[in-house]
Amino acid sequence: MGSSCRSCRWLRLFVVVLLLGFLVCTSFCRAQDDSEPDDEITAVYIVTLKQAPSVHRFAQELRRGNKNHGFHKQNGTSGRLSRLNNPRNVSISHPRSGYNISRVHDSILRRAFKGEKYLKLYSYHYLINGFSVFVTPQQAEKLSRRREVANVVSDFSVRTATTHTPQFLGLPQGAWIQEGGYETAGEGVVIGFIDTGIDPTHPSFADDASEHSYPVPSHFSGICEVTRDFPSGSCNRKLIGARHFAASAITRGIFNSSQDYASPFDGDGHGSHTASVAAGNHGIPVVVTGHHFGNASGMAPRSHIAVYKALYKSFGGFAADVVAAIDQAAQDGVDIISLSITPNRRPPGIATFFNPIDMALLSAAKAGIFVVQAAGNTGPSPKSMSSFSPWIFTVGAASHDRIYTNSIILGNSLTISGVGLAPGTDKMYTLISALHALNNNTTTTDDMYVGECQDSSNFNQDLVQGNLLICSYSIRFVLGLSTIKQAFETAKNLSAAGIVFYMDPFVIGFQLNPTPMKMPGIIIPSPDDSKILLQYYNSSLERDEVTKKIIKFGAVACILGGLKANFSNSAPKIMYYSARGPDPEDSFLDDADIMKPNLVAPGNSIWAAWSSLGTDSVEFQGESFAMMSGTSMAAPHIAGLAALIKQKFPSFSPSAIASALSTSATLYDKNGGPIMAQRAYAKPDENQSPATPFDMGSGFVNATASLDPGLVFDASKS
Ligand SMILES: *[C@@H]1O[C@H](CO)[C@@H](O)[C@H](O)[C@H]1NC(C)=O
Ligand SMILES: *[C@@H]1O[C@H](CO)[C@@H](O)[C@H](O)[C@H]1NC(C)=O
Ligand SMILES: *[C@@H]1O[C@H](CO)[C@@H](O)[C@H](O)[C@H]1NC(C)=O
Ligand SMILES: *[C@@H]1O[C@H](CO)[C@@H](O)[C@H](O)[C@H]1NC(C)=O
Ligand SMILES: *[C@@H]1O[C@H](CO)[C@@H](O)[C@H](O)[C@H]1NC(C)=O
Ligand SMILES: *[C@@H]1O[C@H](CO)[C@@H](O)[C@H](O)[C@H]1NC(C)=O
Ligand SMILES: *[C@@H]1O[C@H](CO)[C@@H](O)[C@H](O)[C@H]1NC(C)=O
Ligand SMILES: *[C@@H]1O[C@H](CO)[C@@H](O)[C@H](O)[C@H]1NC(C)=O
Ligand SMILES: *[C@@H]1O[C@H](CO)[C@@H](O)[C@H](O)[C@H]1NC(C)=O
Ligand SMILES: *[C@@H]1O[C@H](CO)[C@@H](O)[C@H](O)[C@H]1NC(C)=O
Ligand SMILES: *[C@@H]1O[C@H](CO)[C@@H](O)[C@H](O)[C@H]1NC(C)=O
Repeated sequence: MGSSCRSCRWLRLFVVVLLLGFLVCTSFCRAQDDSEPDDEITAVYIVTLKQAPSVHRFAQELRRGNKNHGFHKQNGTSGRLSRLNNPRNVSISHPRSGYNISRVHDSILRRAFKGEKYLKLYSYHYLINGFSVFVTPQQAEKLSRRREVANVVSDFSVRTATTHTPQFLGLPQGAWIQEGGYETAGEGVVIGFIDTGIDPTHPSFADDASEHSYPVPSHFSGICEVTRDFPSGSCNRKLIGARHFAASAITRGIFNSSQDYASPFDGDGHGSHTASVAAGNHGIPVVVTGHHFGNASGMAPRSHIAVYKALYKSFGGFAADVVAAIDQAAQDGVDIISLSITPNRRPPGIATFFNPIDMALLSAAKAGIFVVQAAGNTGPSPKSMSSFSPWIFTVGAASHDRIYTNSIILGNSLTISGVGLAPGTDKMYTLISALHALNNNTTTTDDMYVGECQDSSNFNQDLVQGNLLICSYSIRFVLGLSTIKQAFETAKNLSAAGIVFYMDPFVIGFQLNPTPMKMPGIIIPSPDDSKILLQYYNSSLERDEVTKKIIKFGAVACILGGLKANFSNSAPKIMYYSARGPDPEDSFLDDADIMKPNLVAPGNSIWAAWSSLGTDSVEFQGESFAMMSGTSMAAPHIAGLAALIKQKFPSFSPSAIASALSTSATLYDKNGGPIMAQRAYAKPDENQSPATPFDMGSGFVNATASLDPGLVFDASKS
């Protein structure tokens, strides 16, 4: 990538960051390779054929033939094709004609191209009958004119969009009890994750060592890849399937095996996080920077995990790979598919949902799989929705009642609040600005960003030692150019007592997520409060009358510490970044006739598992848990709850599960008032009003009530 491109990428990042704030950005900083194919350039196309895919040909055959097999509607059966018969046999080689769909695709390509060069990446046969192929635009055009072909779409890019949430959702006293306790909650149900993979060594995904029998569900037939990064033994009775799909990325030449891992291993962190939110083991201690933040549990801690990695740290992902992942998940017999990913932009085509991913998901839903997708972090404006189709259950992000706040008390008795998962100080300490503690050989003209405290060799240890260092926090931290971790290393090298970060006035107020800190520390997110701190500091300096040199640093402060959670936050509240409905472009003439999102769930400041080699967040690198925010975190909450519903009512169809979740949702926050929606990224709590269905769909999920839904609307008719 050339340097001019790199600078435009930074500019783009910069704009995005200004608009969207902190972790939201981590999802946006991916997948730049989204350009429309140029005339001369070979590109990946996804081709769908007119003939039905395996799963539906099989269903048609069933309906024609043995009625007693009970497709969909018989009681006592699961509504899930794969429970009844093993459709794998059908998909790979059709029982009647015995043909191999992959060979049929090859034959179509051979006939279409007669000796021309092309590269087939995947044959899709289970949910959609089609393939992806690397060809020129002229060749794509040639394919689209063929009789067997339904459509040809150019491949497009996609991106990735707890300790306490089980309690906030009332699971221990509610839903889990109905399932026989957390020891069995979700057992027998398989959730498939289309994400960045998984860290199989994480305790959240360890096998259950207890004597309980915990069989791999017999309707699941997936496999685990074995590679150097994902050795034999990585899978167990909790993590029962793991594969990766990267042909499109590899063909484009952007796959970087040293950070993307050609295996199901999660080099990012996002996939381990989302999988543990839905299905992580119960009672796993969350220890980050040496502090214990409580114990984590997935929503359905005994459900099984099948991983279909199709997203990657360095570039995001592509539809051709995602469709292959979804096709495989369905064929393997997952009960639920959880997608914490959305297209980077509206997919090509006349309506948002006529794209290969959504068509594959339609087929999955028809085959009885409940599909959950994150709404996207593209809010808060109307029609900012990134999840489109009526057959997908779309989840927006809300806050929950746990917040971590921190504060600093100044020597003049003013208290300023801030964020930081940090211990407090034992007493008042002298404050010293980094800019007043430079070595003789360092100036701000040498290093404009020296105030961000990234290198201890810039500072005079004699001045800093035993004092609280004041450092500046700028957009560079959001971009990962400076890090909190590095600043604390500086403080440690200089034997400082802690760090107070003030907000660079250039940064327009955005929401900061709590960041773990090894030593006493706080970030003051408000520019106004930052000014108050600096004024107090400045006015307490004593300078030499003549030389104007500082002779005494008079300001003192203590940090109270932010390791303890406060559960009195008014919640839930729809987060500003949660994408809003309605679906922007869902028909030829009129828009706005599809209700989106369907529901909201906790998505803000969610603690969950982190990959040991996850690099998506610099601040959590090397930690085994991370606190993340986004609709990516909301969707797996619903995937886990859907597993509980599926366990209790095995015969529920996807739309019955959707109905159970929707009709039982709540419209009130925990104080009994209407659920509020943040409507601006800057000062979101000052720009809020009662949420509408376009902010939260049917409302905030009520886990207990969804397991006792009373009436369910089963809209599934094929
Ligand atoms: C189906 O449900 C009905 C009513 O709930 C019941 O009478 C019948 O025995 C069930 N059939 C099977 C095959 O379970
Ligand atoms: C599917 O194939 C497997 C092995 O290839 C076989 O054991 C099984 O009986 C087949 N199932 C059906 C329903 O034909
Ligand atoms: C179908 O054909 C493909 C390509 O020729 C081959 O790789 C695959 O193993 C075949 N599958 C079966 C079940 O024969
Ligand atoms: C691949 O990733 C490694 C490690 O992050 C990096 O050093 C290298 O420059 C990357 N290669 C390319 C071609 O981007
Ligand atoms: C958290 O887990 C640890 C170890 O599994 C256990 O000793 C402790 O009691 C748990 N704490 C809570 C609050 O559940
Ligand atoms: C910096 O320079 C001044 C004189 O110019 C000297 O007194 C002081 O000791 C020097 N400080 C350091 C840390 O080198
Ligand atoms: C400045 O001086 C300090 C100590 O005198 C030294 O450790 C540091 O490396 C020097 N920095 C530069 C940029 O020369
Ligand atoms: C802290 O000190 C170590 C050892 O001198 C050094 O390698 C490291 O770069 C320093 N860290 C920072 C952030 O200055
Ligand atoms: C710091 O205080 C002095 C007087 O005490 C004042 O003249 C100066 O403008 C102040 N500087 C800032 C940046 O507030
Ligand atoms: C918890 O938060 C509430 C509301 O923000 C605040 O009023 C209260 O003082 C906090 N409690 C503690 C112990 O910090
Ligand atoms: C959730 O549902 C349960 C059971 O129906 C009910 O008792 C509870 O009040 C509901 N919670 C909210 C917040 O509406």
